[in-house]
Amino acid sequence: MEAGDGKEETPLSSALSRFQLSEDYGFLLPNPLTELPAPYGPWMEIARELPQLIASHRLRSRVHQMPQLSTRHLRGREELYLAHLVLSFITMGYLWQEGEEGTVKVLPRHLAVPFWEVSQALGLPPILSHADFVLANWRRKDPSGPLEIENLDPIILLPGGESLRGFILVTFLVEKAAVPGIKAIPQAICAIRQLDEETLHQALQGLATAIGAMGKALQRMHDYVDPAVFYAVIRIFLSGWKDNPAMPDGLVYEGVSEEPMAFSGGSAAQSTILHAFDELLGIRHSQESTAFLHRMRDYMPPPHRAFIEEIGRAPSLKQHVLCSRDARLRAAFNRCVAALVDFRSCHIVIVTKYIAVAKAKAGRAEVGGWAGRPPAALEAKGTGGSHIFSFLKSVRDTTRDGLISA
Ligand code: HEM
Repeated sequence: MEAGDGKEETPLSSALSRFQLSEDYGFLLPNPLTELPAPYGPWMEIARELPQLIASHRLRSRVHQMPQLSTRHLRGREELYLAHLVLSFITMGYLWQEGEEGTVKVLPRHLAVPFWEVSQALGLPPILSHADFVLANWRRKDPSGPLEIENLDPIILLPGGESLRGFILVTFLVEKAAVPGIKAIPQAICAIRQLDEETLHQALQGLATAIGAMGKALQRMHDYVDPAVFYAVIRIFLSGWKDNPAMPDGLVYEGVSEEPMAFSGGSAAQSTILHAFDELLGIRHSQESTAFLHRMRDYMPPPHRAFIEEIGRAPSLKQHVLCSRDARLRAAFNRCVAALVDFRSCHIVIVTKYIAVAKAKAGRAEVGGWAGRPPAALEAKGTGGSHIFSFLKSVRDTTRDGLISA
């Protein structure tokens, strides 16, 4: 039920819509636009052909011929999100077309200036983020069909073929599975304020179930994404230009600033879901992990970041449960934390398969004509630039520390 779509507004839908959250889609953009207004035809044409243009090494010359378009014809949030999606994918393709040894130092003016303006309007960084890659990058093949992977497609693609499609859509399914858990957050906070233990218990049950469903959705990565393609092809196009030895000086956005700027690459660490759940459950990560995770919040749409901050200001759920004599409430709280630990453990197994094992087996992978050499600069680091395994295990272990002991 969307606020403003003619349906009745409930306290829950109005609590969610304050943060641009949808009751049906959570943090996903509901039914994103797939076409920009006519003046932006030149961007859309390039974006739709990206895998082929990159494979044939023609993207950079196509971008150089692109006209300088003003952003003033873009109207409303949906058009701005699609423009950001399109320009961020073109930018990643432009930078990484020749692999990490053939990067450029400058993003040309007619790409950099509109990308900067659209980013400013949305409060997003001028780089591909999780919001572009997943939240705004989906459409139903059959508009009246179900939200299942067979009936879904990303709007814009990069090299990586079916594996890239699967990577984007499985991540979409994790976001979708989280929706009942997101709705449980305002319900839980309201129940704490009203000392309504029954509603609080139900909200925690709903949250634990949603986290379990997210874990199931995550497992589908194994069915849809080939580790060799992920490792050698997909990863590089998600790489940023902060702490990346392949682009040590960052990137000059021509026409915006003469100084180079540095931004981290796209990562589901920028998804708001786990940040929000951690905040509600009072999970405290190490100082170093927290610093990275908080930096990832700068890559979220500002209303989603505000949602996490609002949860942080609410009365503490953990304190409430600790003070309560209700054993059922403690058990429900612990089920949420345990489900989060399980999710993070499954994620570590996936990262091991798609990065560590794939690295051990790595040769050259060729997909859709783009022969990628595994990006050496990313060896021990994730696309967001963190030392991945110690970081992921520390985050999982500090989640477990959040359990309430009997
Ligand atoms: C092939 C699939 C995946 C791989 C290889 C992968 C890899 C990684 C890596 C390397 C990091 C470390 C941080 C960084 O470098 O950005 C990370 C963090 C993270 N990823 Fe994934 N990821 C995958 C799928 C997903 C999916 C589908 C989700 C769910 C939305 C997800 C959620 C997270 C979260 C929340 C973090 C931050 C750490 C935490 O809070 O536990 N990842 N991932």
